[in-house]
Amino acid sequence: MPMNTVFVTGASGFIGRHAVAELAARDCRIRCLVRRTSSVRHLTKIGAELHCGDVVEPDGLTEAIAGSDVVLHLAGFRFAYKSSDLMRVNTDGTWNVARACAAQNNPPVLVVVSSVAAAGPAPSGMMRTEADPAAPVSNYGRSKRGGELAAEAWADKVPTTILRPGVVFGPWNRETFPIFHSIATLGVHAVPTFAPPPLSLIHVEDLVQLMLQAAENGTRIQMDSLDARPATRPPGYYFASAPEYPNYAQFGRMVARALGRRHVFVWHIAEPLPWILGGIIETIGRLRHRLEALNVDKMREATVPSWASSVQAATEDLGFAPACSLQERLHQTADWYRTRGWL
Ligand SMILES: NC(=O)c1ccc[n+]([C@@H]2O[C@H](COP(=O)([O-])OP(=O)(O)OC[C@H]3O[C@@H](n4cnc5c(N)ncnc54)[C@H](OP(=O)(O)O)[C@@H]3O)[C@@H](O)[C@H]2O)c1
Repeated sequence: MPMNTVFVTGASGFIGRHAVAELAARDCRIRCLVRRTSSVRHLTKIGAELHCGDVVEPDGLTEAIAGSDVVLHLAGFRFAYKSSDLMRVNTDGTWNVARACAAQNNPPVLVVVSSVAAAGPAPSGMMRTEADPAAPVSNYGRSKRGGELAAEAWADKVPTTILRPGVVFGPWNRETFPIFHSIATLGVHAVPTFAPPPLSLIHVEDLVQLMLQAAENGTRIQMDSLDARPATRPPGYYFASAPEYPNYAQFGRMVARALGRRHVFVWHIAEPLPWILGGIIETIGRLRHRLEALNVDKMREATVPSWASSVQAATEDLGFAPACSLQERLHQTADWYRTRGWL
């Protein structure tokens, strides 16, 4: 599958920034959908073509995508207070991008970056596979599942592959940064619940490699296989995670090691206090018109039995393997935060 011209949505975001850097290193022609307010300095620096638009406004998307071999669809909301906002961007936005791909004479390969939240959690001690029916528990997860279904609706015309990453971390990431910051400065790691779920985690550079492997050689969604044999692994879906599943408390200890701290106080916060805190932080955020990463919807995700997801499909079909261990990746990330003066 040629990957000469790649259209990227969400290129101004955390994962998109790393994706376009890798595409530039591979000498691809890069086109990016950006909003008027997007930060684009890193995109102009690498010579990406910028198309001003919005995934919720379908006008212009078909034209912007024309001539692309591959579309990497990353644009999305990680959190929003109104579930209608999540649905508008994550579900309807994916519909618009997939429809614009379908409108091409020669539709490009579409790689949709969904989330493990779209699949939903696994029962305690179990691991989710692509064959398990989706059962999201949060508004975010439901909006990402909506995006998957929207992409499926056009998959008879568009060769489509969906990736479901767990928590993505690495340079430039602001969402996991507070964990590093709290451990580095206070030596404290706060854990909502006494039974934190095992996590699926992936370093952003490993995810980008997997995205490009999926674009080049991934299986594609086949609607008949989804309908006919629901219990078998559906082509076109891949979980994206390191094959290590620390729970949130163990993750804090790994971050402490990465930071060179010998001791960290793992503070388990008993329920219902995390819910109350999430509610208070969300209410303050709403009053200040500021989105806070800790909110009630995230608490729905933090208090499930397991987020472990199997990467067998990605390993078998695509030869996916992270470049190094989770611990080494956390070391690299901690070093990056230090070098950049974030810590
Ligand atoms: N980070 C994770 O841990 C993680 C885990 C699983 C899945 N994902 C998924 O991966 C994707 C990228 O995540 P990220 O962490 O890179 O998020 P991010 O840093 O918040 O970036 C989101 C990107 O989407 C763009 N965007 C948002 N709404 C848009 C709209 N209406 N039209 C066009 N572009 C829009 C943003 O543009 P602006 O710069 O203009 O705001 C930004 O470029 C998302 O779909 C997310 O759901 C992320």
